[in-house]
Amino acid sequence: MRMVDVIQKKRNGEELTEQEIRFFVDGYTEGSIPDYQASALMMAVYFRGMNDKETATLTQAMVDSGETIDLSSIQGHKVDKHSTGGVGDKISFLTGPIVASVGVPVAKMSGRGLGHTGGTLDKLESLSGFNVEITKEQFIENVNKNKLAVAGQTGNLAPADKKLYALRDVTATVDSIPLIAGSIMSKKLASGADSIVLDVKTGSGAFMKTLEDSEALAREMVNIGNNLGRNTVAVISDMNQPLGYEVGNANEIKEAVEVLQGKRVDDLRRLSLELASHMTILAEVFDTYEEAYAKLEENIENGKAFEAFRKFIEAQGGNVAMIDDLSKLPSSKYQVEVKAPKSGYVSAIDAESIGVAAMYLGAGRATKDDEINHGVGISLKKKIGDEVSEGDTLVVLNSDDEDPTDSIEKVLSAYEIDASKPEELTLIHKVIK
Ligand code: URA
Repeated sequence: MRMVDVIQKKRNGEELTEQEIRFFVDGYTEGSIPDYQASALMMAVYFRGMNDKETATLTQAMVDSGETIDLSSIQGHKVDKHSTGGVGDKISFLTGPIVASVGVPVAKMSGRGLGHTGGTLDKLESLSGFNVEITKEQFIENVNKNKLAVAGQTGNLAPADKKLYALRDVTATVDSIPLIAGSIMSKKLASGADSIVLDVKTGSGAFMKTLEDSEALAREMVNIGNNLGRNTVAVISDMNQPLGYEVGNANEIKEAVEVLQGKRVDDLRRLSLELASHMTILAEVFDTYEEAYAKLEENIENGKAFEAFRKFIEAQGGNVAMIDDLSKLPSSKYQVEVKAPKSGYVSAIDAESIGVAAMYLGAGRATKDDEINHGVGISLKKKIGDEVSEGDTLVVLNSDDEDPTDSIEKVLSAYEIDASKPEELTLIHKVIK
C-alpha cells in the first residue's frame, strides 16, 4: 500500500477502508509515514470528512496504537467525564466529588493546560503537596477507598493521537468533527472507564461555534462510545463566555470549593449537577434524572460533596488547610482593575481572549516548558447581560506585574458593550444519548 494513494482517495472524497486507515495510523505512529503526508491526509479529511464507520475505525486504530488502562480492579461501575475544552472550566473538580459522594468511582486521567486553555493538573497543583504522579497501584487504591483520584495521563495512551494532535495544531486541521471525535474518544476509550459523559462546548469560546456543529460532534462521539462498548451521553453546554467568574489556577480552586460548600448557586453548580446526574444514571445508582439531581444537590447542601473533595486532596498529599481556609491559597502581588470604557450592557466576552490574557499573567503556558504561576489569574466582575457604567470594574487581574499592559489590552478587546440588553444565554442546550 502507498500513502500517496490513500491521500488521493480521500482527496477525491472516497471512503477509506479499515486497512487503509490502520496503515496510516500505524505508519505515522512508528515514523514510516512522514509529517507532510500525514498533513495532506488531515487536510483532505478536513475538507472531505469521514463517515461514521471511518471515524470509528480511526478511533479504534488510535486506541490500538498504545496502551490501554485496565481499571477492572476498581470495584463498581467507573464513569468518566470529559469536556471538549473551555476557559474557566473547573467542572471536573465539581463532578468528581459530587459523583464520588454517592459512591460512584471516578478514576480520572487529566491533562495540563496549553495556550488559552487551563489544565486540571495545573489547577490542582495550586494546593501545596498535591501529587499527580501517583503510581498505578496508588491510583487504584485511592479510587477504591475514596471513590476519586486524578492522575496525569501516562505517556503511552493513544500515542497516535498525541502525534497527530500536535500536527493538526500547526496545520489548521483541529476543528474537524471526525478528527476531534476520534482524538477525544481514543483517549477516553484507552483510559478504561465503563461509561462516559461528555461536556460538548458550543459558542464563541469553543471549537464548535454553532449549535449545529456541536450537535454533530456530540452525536459522532456518542455513536463511537456506544458502538465501542461504553455507554456514552453528551451534554451540549454554552461557551460564549468563560465559565463562572474565575480564570487561572488557585482562584479556580477557590471558586470550585465555594460551589462544593453550597455557597454559590450559579451556572457552575447547575452544569456540574447536570453532568453528575448523567454520570450517576449511567452508573445505575439512580433511575431517573430528577432523583439523581435532587440527591446530588442534597449532597452539596449537607457537606458530603465537599467532604469527598477533602478526602481526595488529602489522599494525594495536598494541603487541605488551603481549602479549609481559602486565604491560604497562593495569591498575587497586585490586583489591577480593568474598567469599562463606556456605559451599556456587556453583550459579549470572548473566552479565548480572556484565556490568553490569563496566560500572559503567567496562569498558563505559551510553550510546553513554561512554568505556571498558581497565584495569578483573572476574576471577572461583569458577565454577559450585566449593566455597566463607564469606569466600573470589568475584571480584576491578579498579577505579579504592577502594570500588565498586554493582559489589560487583551481583556478590553474581549469585552463588547452595547446600548441594548442582550438576550439571555442558555447554559444547557441539549442532551444527546
Ligand atoms: N481535544 C482533544 O483532545 N482533541 C481534539 O482534537 C480537540 C480537543
